[in-house]
Amino acid sequence: MSLKRRIPFLRWSFWRLAIGSRNITKTGQIGDGREAAAADYVVANARRGDIDDVIAKIDDFAYDKSFLINIGDEKGELLDAAVRRAHTELALELGTYCGYGSLRIARAAPTATVFSVELSEANARVAQRIWAHAGVADRVTCVVGTIGDGGKTLDALANEHGFSAGKLDLLFIDHDKAAYLPDLQSILERGWLHPGGIVVADNMLIPGSPKYREYMREQQGKLFDTAEHKTHGEYQTLAPDLVLESEYLG
Ligand SMILES: C[S@@+](CC[C@H](N)C(=O)[O-])C[C@H]1O[C@@H](n2cnc3c(N)ncnc32)[C@H](O)[C@@H]1O
Repeated sequence: MSLKRRIPFLRWSFWRLAIGSRNITKTGQIGDGREAAAADYVVANARRGDIDDVIAKIDDFAYDKSFLINIGDEKGELLDAAVRRAHTELALELGTYCGYGSLRIARAAPTATVFSVELSEANARVAQRIWAHAGVADRVTCVVGTIGDGGKTLDALANEHGFSAGKLDLLFIDHDKAAYLPDLQSILERGWLHPGGIVVADNMLIPGSPKYREYMREQQGKLFDTAEHKTHGEYQTLAPDLVLESEYLG
């Protein structure tokens, strides 16, 4: 791997991301159009209908063109393994961004239906273009909203998309770090996750979600059985990160 791929500080797009970090929390985008550019790049360069090639081209874009805040290739392998371990038929992701995480879930679980909740309409449009190009738009759906919007999005998942007690196999949490724990608790209150279902949480070191991590420590052997996977932040090998994989014990 080249030095530029390993060390993010050598890339202007990484510094631009740091400058745009306030933008991300408000709009879900970095502010320089890179998310739409990623979709353009995929449509121009990836083989239509080839999910492997679409995922590879998004990774190429993130390494060589503009840094993206996807789960990325290294941590993505942890997600893939959890998806397979959960025998996933129904998955829910919180935080769609460009649709990369959902694509990985759809690839690791070829018969699964995947829903992804995203606050930004613009990101939903980017993800939908990429999913259509990968040929998975019939089973991967973005729901624009938030779990914390007073029940609107949770009700939409229940009433329009068939979420019901014990149906959810895999929950991937990768959005607003302050919302990790309350959103998990809202989903648990609905009873959608069944015993043996798995919750994966990204970015548990950088930027981290201390209340979520503490909760999983408290619940160890009670409501959840959690493994903390040591890994690196997306698209570089300099900064460490943690991915939490928690089996629901019910
Ligand atoms: C780190 S990115 C998600 C990356 C994606 N999971 C992947 O691996 O490809 C975070 C995304 O969460 C969205 N987001 C932030 N807060 C949110 C919330 N409360 N509900 C839903 N989406 C949210 C942002 O707009 C952004 O698109």
